[in-house]
Amino acid sequence: MDVARLRDDTPGCSPAGTPSGTNGGHIHLNNAGAALMPRPVLKAVRDYLELEARLGGYEAADAAADAIEDAYAAVAHLLGSRPDQVAFTEHATASFVAALSSIPLREGDVVLTTRADYVSNQIQYLSLAERFGIEVVRAPDAPEGGVDVGAMEELIHRRRPRVVAVTHIPTNSGLVQDVAAIGALCRARDVWYLVDACQSVGQMPVHPEEIGADFLSATARKFLRGPRGAGFLWVSERALDAGLTPLFPDLRGADWIDESLVQPAPGARRFESWEFFWGLVLGTGAAARYATDLGLDAIETRIRRLAEELRAALAEVPGVRVLDHGAELGAIVTVAVEGHEPPALMRKLRDRGVHTTGQGRLDAVLDYDAKEVAGALRLSPHVYNTSEEIREAVAILDELLR
Ligand SMILES: Cc1ncc(COP(=O)(O)O)c(C=O)c1O
Repeated sequence: MDVARLRDDTPGCSPAGTPSGTNGGHIHLNNAGAALMPRPVLKAVRDYLELEARLGGYEAADAAADAIEDAYAAVAHLLGSRPDQVAFTEHATASFVAALSSIPLREGDVVLTTRADYVSNQIQYLSLAERFGIEVVRAPDAPEGGVDVGAMEELIHRRRPRVVAVTHIPTNSGLVQDVAAIGALCRARDVWYLVDACQSVGQMPVHPEEIGADFLSATARKFLRGPRGAGFLWVSERALDAGLTPLFPDLRGADWIDESLVQPAPGARRFESWEFFWGLVLGTGAAARYATDLGLDAIETRIRRLAEELRAALAEVPGVRVLDHGAELGAIVTVAVEGHEPPALMRKLRDRGVHTTGQGRLDAVLDYDAKEVAGALRLSPHVYNTSEEIREAVAILDELLR
């Protein structure tokens, strides 16, 4: 991979071979929060904004209709799928909620999930439990970390959940869940299956059909390197054919065809809402093309190598404990630092030009309580980061702790 070119393509990076801080570049290890956009993404969003300013919002959308179709095709290509299975949304949680709301849940139905599912998703399961009497069942973890797939199988068999929901890569740990193994169980039992791929799309190859998913939700701004405020939902043919629609479609998601009659839009568009800043959709399409051109296998290999370097270097710093635990680990590196609150440490590092996330207990109560920590400092490299940056970031942390 041509890292110098990747850095030149990325306005937030200092140019290759120059110290961090050159041209205002930072050591950006916060790709699990929001990655740095490459130039083609920035250009797509800016150009569209200019077009809106010149033409007006509705006229600009008409003028960009072909480019918008291309954005659907680019995301579909990234997922190994068809454009009519992709819905654009404002962000991953909006995608996930629309998908969850389309499952015909009745009082007493079981939602089967994991202990590592994303915090907002957990809040939504509990909201369903409170409002509609749904039962939330969480499969236990395996000793090596990650959900116990055997226990999942047993629970699917015994509890007959209406839906299984799994976060592919949690927000709070390097863990990669075996979503394909769980997908095979769901397909064998014909259970609806929702995958939150917010942290995995753009980080590694993600093919929802191969996973056996019915829905796959994602956001643009993380490892995919798209703009903030954009996301998408992939929907299986099974779910579309079964007529699943979100609980509250609007006039883009459905047609009001007679006094008491509503007809869902064809394809995944029924999960979209009418109002979009289409520049963000074009930016997401550009990000998907950028990642596909680099190659998702190559991206995964480089990111994981950098994450391993980071884990190894952090483990050497006195007072630092690496928290990641799982049979397969990805690009999110989490550590607890003795005597330091993660958010305060994050701010100190940011003052020194190192970007991370400081998470608190409420970002993942089950995981952080099990690890007996009050949160974690999260560092997440991307392909444009370098080994030098990792060494510098860890040296700065070490210095701050002394
Ligand atoms: C695993 C996971 N799922 C979902 C989300 C929510 O994404 P969004 O803020 O785009 O809704 C996040 C955000 O950090 C996440 O890490």
